[in-house]
Amino acid sequence: MANPEITITADGSHTLFVAELNEPYHSVNGAVTESMHVFIENALLFRNKKDIVVFEVGFGTGLNCLLTALKAMENGLKIKYITIEKYPLDPEIIKKLNYPSFFKDDRSEIWEKIHESPWDRDVELNNNFKLYKINADILLTSFSKISQNFDVVYFDAFAPDVQPALWQPEIFSRLFEKCNKKAVLTTYSAKGSVRRTMISAGFKVEKLPGPPGKKEMLRGIIPD
Ligand SMILES: C[S@@+](CC[C@H](N)C(=O)[O-])C[C@H]1O[C@@H](n2cnc3c(N)ncnc32)[C@H](O)[C@@H]1O
Repeated sequence: MANPEITITADGSHTLFVAELNEPYHSVNGAVTESMHVFIENALLFRNKKDIVVFEVGFGTGLNCLLTALKAMENGLKIKYITIEKYPLDPEIIKKLNYPSFFKDDRSEIWEKIHESPWDRDVELNNNFKLYKINADILLTSFSKISQNFDVVYFDAFAPDVQPALWQPEIFSRLFEKCNKKAVLTTYSAKGSVRRTMISAGFKVEKLPGPPGKKEMLRGIIPD
């Protein structure tokens, strides 16, 4: 893919815009606000577990990863964060994103550690956060190479109309099989077809209020 362009969203945080897909990486109504709402509050904190394995579909800018690491440090959680990305971004783009300076205290140290961590290797960033970034296509990657099962899944692919292959039933079934009991999967999408796909994979699905600019989002739970 050609290099995406940096743009400012409604809460002042950056996102990237991919011209060839006509698609942003995050909501234009607030990138940090969306990630906090969809993934941190409605998945990570909702799961409410101290020792937790998070799996992210689409590492992208690393924004979800940064927010999760910050929450782990703030709440004393022990997080193993596993993320997969087919198209890692150019480090020159990462350097220009305003996420580390978006918060009251500067977060450059953890932001740089996240991005300097090598791909395809387990890295301990601090006592609260271990990272495993997989550089691969999720459509071609077997989850059997990942030793842990997931407690939380951030499903953050590009939109279903833009990248339908990532929203197909097989992906959700594979995620379901790889999840622990009581695991939680969230996505910003509230499409009926996504909801039905999640239900057919086995998730108990609820609609929740969405982030600014979106009426609803989806959360799937693995029954106990
Ligand atoms: C909506 S963006 C993710 C935003 C990201 N979570 C963040 O916090 O910046 C979707 C991501 O999925 C990645 N992606 C697209 N197709 C993929 C595939 N087949 N396997 C793995 N990642 C893929 C894209 O390169 C992009 O980074």
